[in-house]
Amino acid sequence: MKNTFLNSDQYKKIGHEVIDQLSVFLKSIDSIALTKAETPEQLQKILGKLSLPENGEEASILVKEITEKLIQHSLYNGHPGFMGYITSSALPIGAIADLIASTINQNIGGYRLAPMASEIERQTIQWIAEFLNYDPKCGGILVSGGNMANFLGFLTAKTIKGGSEIQKKGLKALDKQLVCYTSIETHTWIQKASDLFGIGTDAVRWISTNENREMNCAELNETIKKDIQNGFKPFLVVGTAGSVSFGAVDPLKEISRICNEHDLWFHIDGAYGAPAAASSLSPKELMNLNLADSIAVDPHKWLYSALEVGCTLVKDPNHLRSTFSHHPAYYEFSAQAQEIDYHEYGMQNSRGFRALKVWMGFKLLGKNGFIELIDKDINLSRLLYKKIGEYPYIEAYSNHLSITTFRYIPEKYIGTEAENLETINELNKEILQKIFKSGKAFVSNAYVEEMYLLRACLVNIRSSEKDLDNLLMLVNEFGRSLQN
Ligand SMILES: Cc1ncc(COP(=O)(O)O)c(C=O)c1O
Repeated sequence: MKNTFLNSDQYKKIGHEVIDQLSVFLKSIDSIALTKAETPEQLQKILGKLSLPENGEEASILVKEITEKLIQHSLYNGHPGFMGYITSSALPIGAIADLIASTINQNIGGYRLAPMASEIERQTIQWIAEFLNYDPKCGGILVSGGNMANFLGFLTAKTIKGGSEIQKKGLKALDKQLVCYTSIETHTWIQKASDLFGIGTDAVRWISTNENREMNCAELNETIKKDIQNGFKPFLVVGTAGSVSFGAVDPLKEISRICNEHDLWFHIDGAYGAPAAASSLSPKELMNLNLADSIAVDPHKWLYSALEVGCTLVKDPNHLRSTFSHHPAYYEFSAQAQEIDYHEYGMQNSRGFRALKVWMGFKLLGKNGFIELIDKDINLSRLLYKKIGEYPYIEAYSNHLSITTFRYIPEKYIGTEAENLETINELNKEILQKIFKSGKAFVSNAYVEEMYLLRACLVNIRSSEKDLDNLLMLVNEFGRSLQN
């Protein structure tokens, strides 16, 4: 095969070959090791310490070799034993969508450049909103993930509530310091946002939570009132719908009431939990997503899209546009009434077609298909919590949405956990490492104050009851072997 960029015949041949290779991988994903836990030295050796190639090489060999290397030396979050973090297994149709999107290669910054893709993004946003019971007439945009989706909500809040001069003059347009409120369980994106958008991390007021890790609303209200008395300018409250560590859902209705009372922007971080609003198994508070001025939701979490895709929804579409729209002379897209130029709705200018994988997922499964998958995750997570009761030395700590936390307590420390906290913590850290290295399962961790917990998050189309049994067997076995 001639060594050029691929012509259509070469593309076809190599495309067939690589899909063959990848379909064998997908077929075997249930039975291979989840990870080989290789070291950086091992991986660098396998990759080869090469400098930039002077000349090109034969395409079909190149594609075959790198695909094989990636299949052999990756950690598979699509493996049924993967229950770490909130990185879901991806619907394979998303990979096909990405191939189509990259091959046609539209730039969805401007409608004129990507008319059909822009329409598909618009429809995808509307479908996501419908799925969450959010107003389908809302504005929105797809972004790279949860951090970015939350950044957009944060910046829009700052622009809309900060007053008419803030975009032009920055924070010096205000004679008061902006402050925002969120619970101590909030994901670390908020520190990045407060730094990036100029208010500083000290301007984040961390509100405590109750025993279910939900925001304490009485404290929220008191803190806002005190700040107003002390000359600060509150502008935003962030509620979480599915916290990163425990899956807790804040009292969204009460937060909304407080926001209305003080004229504050209400943003919900639903990066993980918002899709569960469609499930009848979810906490009732998730029915209140429609109260938010903006929501972050991550299709690459609980809508099983391939990485990367997040989404910001903003109730009033004009708010997103007035935050991000500028009109340089070199863009004369001059959108017609029905056209939408997405560069005016977010941080990116040139944009890829990440909507297609979400759209094709919805078309493939329909609303009901997604609800079935989400229900299955929630039910498995509850089952895990229940099954822990069969193990005398594993203690269940929490179960919310599809996250279950627990820890191993050696027999000799039962009844004296508080005095031996440090030793029990260290033991559970070692258990986590051993599970990782076994390549049979994957869990992450959570902390409650000083207590270290193992954390299983089910957002996995392939997990089943036998993966729960396998996980608990490993925890029990490693716990027993390490306890002396
Ligand atoms: C509640 C919550 N918000 C935000 C994020 C960040 O999302 P991403 O990793 O897609 O940026 C996460 C990630 O797990 C999350 O759970």
